[in-house]
Amino acid sequence: MKLNMLIDDSAVVIDEFLPNDLLKQLADYKYIPNKASHSNWNSTLFGLTDSPTKKSESYSACLNEVFVNEGLAEVKIFKGKKEEYFKDDIFKRLFNILQTCPFYPFPKDNYYFLMGMYKYQQYSGINWHDDGESSLNFTIYIHPHWHKNWGGEILIEQKDSHPLAIGSDPNRLVCIKNFVQHKVSLTATPTPRHTIQCRLKLINPNVITDEMIREDVRAWSKDILEPINKTLKKPRCPYAGQAWKDNKVRIEIRQKDKPYQEQLDEHLKNLDFAKTDILLFCDPHSKYSEDKAVETAGLYNEKYNKDNIYFLGHHPNVHGNSTLRYSMILVQNFTDLVKASDKLEKTGFYTHFKADFYSHTVKRRKEIYNKFFKKN
Ligand SMILES: [Fe+2]
Repeated sequence: MKLNMLIDDSAVVIDEFLPNDLLKQLADYKYIPNKASHSNWNSTLFGLTDSPTKKSESYSACLNEVFVNEGLAEVKIFKGKKEEYFKDDIFKRLFNILQTCPFYPFPKDNYYFLMGMYKYQQYSGINWHDDGESSLNFTIYIHPHWHKNWGGEILIEQKDSHPLAIGSDPNRLVCIKNFVQHKVSLTATPTPRHTIQCRLKLINPNVITDEMIREDVRAWSKDILEPINKTLKKPRCPYAGQAWKDNKVRIEIRQKDKPYQEQLDEHLKNLDFAKTDILLFCDPHSKYSEDKAVETAGLYNEKYNKDNIYFLGHHPNVHGNSTLRYSMILVQNFTDLVKASDKLEKTGFYTHFKADFYSHTVKRRKEIYNKFFKKN
């Protein structure tokens, strides 16, 4: 591994990056392109429109196709919890080399990493753009040979000078920081410009995105509600798995700028129980306790039980493995819920629960239901 150059605080070029055996394995791997990227003619490649790309809008600026094989590796580590997938051991080896390279800062925690393969056909290139939110973007050239007149150079914007051109030398790594403008100039040869492309995105541990909550809720159901419980000899929630399968779980997340009640009321207005078994309203903005979530659900029950809607307050991080803090209100059709609960009761399901859970939740719920809906 040889450090070739550091460009301002923007990019790093390293030569002889990989051991030869790994380089060859990466080049010979049978990639299955799952996408043809940037396949449309885009005249901005020749500057014919006056929108030199500030953002990635004219990213798709190729004369020819770039074949892409995405999903070769995916690593997410958030607050010490690691999830990783490698399509093959060679990608794991490459990831380990990238991670331990001393010439750029690779974080230890709170990031999301993706790896893909790009194969540029003749006359392909990418216009000026930056990689937006990606914190570090890696290109590794895995073709065995590249002539300097074959094009495909990466041009990188420099602070006080003209752009710098980096040739596509085999076994070179180019690492570019986020928000640094760069482009790939046209390739001029039928030999494909063959690269491994990786993106590393930092996750701010203090910011909880909607996507993170959605994933967390799904994981909570998968890990806590759906597996067979030894004592119950059934899943904790025997209906959860099917509801996800039928696509009948709706997750809504409270947005910061509007009051809680206004948003939940809005979702209730267009809640159709023919399409939705359960609505999960998650709130990452008010950091209250589970008791408070239960209390809020109680207030909603008082208001909406008569309309055949039942609410349950919950905090996934109290009982689950979640590292995120948010509260959750589960909204279900009252009749469906009571019917399902009656069915479970007949099987002796609730005998395994604590007596106060049965009397405070199951029995009480049934009493309220009967008060509103049981015909005498
Ligand atoms: Fe890029």
